[in-house]
Amino acid sequence: EKVVLAYSGGLDTSVLIPWLKENYDYDVIAVCINVGQDAELIGLEERALKMGVSKVYVENVKDEFMKDYVFPMIQSGAIYESKYYLGTSIARAVIAKTLVKIAEKEGAVAICHGCTGKGNDQIRFELGIAALAPHLKVIAPWRIWDISSREEEIAYLEERGLEIPVKKDDSYSRDRNMWHISHEGLDLEDPWNAPLYDKILKLGVSPEQAPDEPTYITLTFTEGMPTHLNGEEMDPSHLLEKLNELGGANGIGIEDIVENRVVGMKSRGVYETPGGTILYKAHEELEHLTLDRETYRFKQEVALEYADLIYNGKWFTPLREALGAFVTSTQKVVTGEVKLKLYKGNVIPQGSQSPYSLYSENLASFTTGDLYDHHDATGFINLYGLPLKVRALMEASHKNN
Ligand code: ARG
Ligand code: SIN
Repeated sequence: EKVVLAYSGGLDTSVLIPWLKENYDYDVIAVCINVGQDAELIGLEERALKMGVSKVYVENVKDEFMKDYVFPMIQSGAIYESKYYLGTSIARAVIAKTLVKIAEKEGAVAICHGCTGKGNDQIRFELGIAALAPHLKVIAPWRIWDISSREEEIAYLEERGLEIPVKKDDSYSRDRNMWHISHEGLDLEDPWNAPLYDKILKLGVSPEQAPDEPTYITLTFTEGMPTHLNGEEMDPSHLLEKLNELGGANGIGIEDIVENRVVGMKSRGVYETPGGTILYKAHEELEHLTLDRETYRFKQEVALEYADLIYNGKWFTPLREALGAFVTSTQKVVTGEVKLKLYKGNVIPQGSQSPYSLYSENLASFTTGDLYDHHDATGFINLYGLPLKVRALMEASHKNN
């Protein structure tokens, strides 16, 4: 029998290989899913084989990740607790889906992951697997074994004469993909400590280090999908890479957040989402121009719900799909161009235009035209304010008695 192991090449998931072989009678198939952590993948296949797996998959799902997960998320406007662009959370959905795909192809009976028992990731993987392949068994060693620290992991490998995949270091706990990188642990665990950005940041610089000259860009969207940067057509991954460079260089997309995990505790992290922050802001500018008031208002509620669904690991659910259908419908008019100024951590709108713009210069300006007659406002306000008058009169009658 076979088990599919969600393998990253790092220490945590490497220890799982000998542990699985000793505690279960499974062939271990290591699966590494590339959602943009490219550099971490060098030499990974060889290392996994040395650890004793029978087969290694390295699956590049970057385009699928962008097209089917990240873009719908941008369109929804989902942001968790006002700050988090959900970079780790959304990647867990495509990773779960790919793990299931390979488990089915290999006829595996179980999927094993290296998430701790205190975090969100375990929930996201396991809800994804539950929704897509309920027959598969899940093995979560961190909730079973006695190993409880990095040092013990290293000792476990040393005792077995196995190579330690990383040198003993004291860096932040990081999770990287093409959309974002997260940093947790060390001094960040005390929320009173200011983040040491010079030590932390990987995708860019802090606003102070950014150039004094702003960068101007133009983004083009078609039905809510970004298609061009400065007039040049780009595929999704390439566009995001370019925006990550520009955003990173200008100190954009750095968030320091104390967030509520699903399992009940608060945790503190610093997240970098340079390109993503630009895309969210640009997309929203176009919605301000093209969406009617009630749709925009309702969409804000959907965004809150959508963010929770992604954060809580409920991507593969009827509610997420139904809300996704609503969002897609709203995007029919989100076509046009947005100009932005990138400057020391800020994304500053510089104008937007759309063939579906609902903005009417005639209506907004002060000249009275055919569509809008000032006199109509009198009756409108009378009726609109009627309940307020009724209540005020009622209160006045009590005072008088
Ligand atoms: N707290 C964030 C989240 O729950 C980031 C988690 C980072 N995950 C990790 N395995 N290092 O989405
Ligand atoms: C983990 O605990 O495995 C990482 C952090 C998280 O999942 O929230």
